[in-house]
Amino acid sequence: RKHEPQTLTSAQFPRVRMRRLRRTPALRRMVRETTLAPDDFIYPLFVTHGRGVKREIPSMPGQYQWSLDMLAAEIEEVAALGIPAVILFGIPASKDPIGTENFAPDGIVQQAIRLIKDVAPELVVVTDVCMCEYTDHGHCGIVHQHGDTFEIANDETLNILQRVVVSHAEAGADIVAPSGMMDGMVGAIREALDSHGFHNVAVLSYAVKYASAFYGPFRDAAESPPQFGDRKTHQMDPANVREALREAALDVAEGADMLMVKPALPYLDVIRAVREAFDLPLAAYNVSGEYSMVKAAAANGWIDERSVVLELLTGIKRAGADLILTYFAKDAARWLQEA
Ligand code: PBG
Ligand code: ZN
Repeated sequence: RKHEPQTLTSAQFPRVRMRRLRRTPALRRMVRETTLAPDDFIYPLFVTHGRGVKREIPSMPGQYQWSLDMLAAEIEEVAALGIPAVILFGIPASKDPIGTENFAPDGIVQQAIRLIKDVAPELVVVTDVCMCEYTDHGHCGIVHQHGDTFEIANDETLNILQRVVVSHAEAGADIVAPSGMMDGMVGAIREALDSHGFHNVAVLSYAVKYASAFYGPFRDAAESPPQFGDRKTHQMDPANVREALREAALDVAEGADMLMVKPALPYLDVIRAVREAFDLPLAAYNVSGEYSMVKAAAANGWIDERSVVLELLTGIKRAGADLILTYFAKDAARWLQEA
């Protein structure tokens, strides 16, 4: 074994000099163990009703809510950068207790899918599947009120998610990504897709999603904060990793095609653990709060944005992610082309 003590005593300084292979850029490239490429990225987009809307999200500089007439140019830019996929989040025209627009044939996401497939047919369209952007209470499921307390009704929510994925598939989505952490969501979605003839639509499960404070800026962007309570009865406790493996195993058994760990940076050990336990393609979500922290520090001149971003994306891949959902995708793809 390479780390045994006798190996170290027979080969050490001054015969061994680690710096030999770090001497020039070409040498460093030759021994680099982890590489980043635009192929690794999935770019999140927020789509909204209206015309001429490109509304910057205050807590996420450089990220926007797009109306569909403004989206085509953005899509062409993403495709030209060699980024293979986008993930869509919709801001509906109106919200109600069950989030009706979520499964409407002319819902904002359904329209956006058709537009993207028109503009860049080869671009992979992933859709986020959850209820929180569409419900007036902002929760990820059907809410049952019991006096002062409330419950998110798991199995009733699955029925809605089934309608949502079928409508996304009908509009042309390639991959649906359930993010609500409902039990049985992957199996329910797979069954709905198959029974409607969408055998080729893949499921990327947000299998391991923690109840994280790092989603704060996203909830501004998607206008989706819970109006009361929190998400701790369905999203995972940040302290747990064995439970992450159980979550992933269930989703694999229910037919997930790809798995996700979310957020990324505080959970690199979880990414590693899931990578080692399962063979499925693994994505990690470099979430809004992780983006905003870097943006804020860079705007203050406290860090060098480009170096920091490439270092942290490399770290997420080194931990074991095959794919990274990141708001930095366009910038990183550009920087990698220049490098
Ligand atoms: C919705 C959803 C959230 C994110 C992705 N899908 C928010 C949440 O669960 O509250 C977070 C993404 C980010 O923070 O960038 N279910
Ligand atoms: Zn949700």
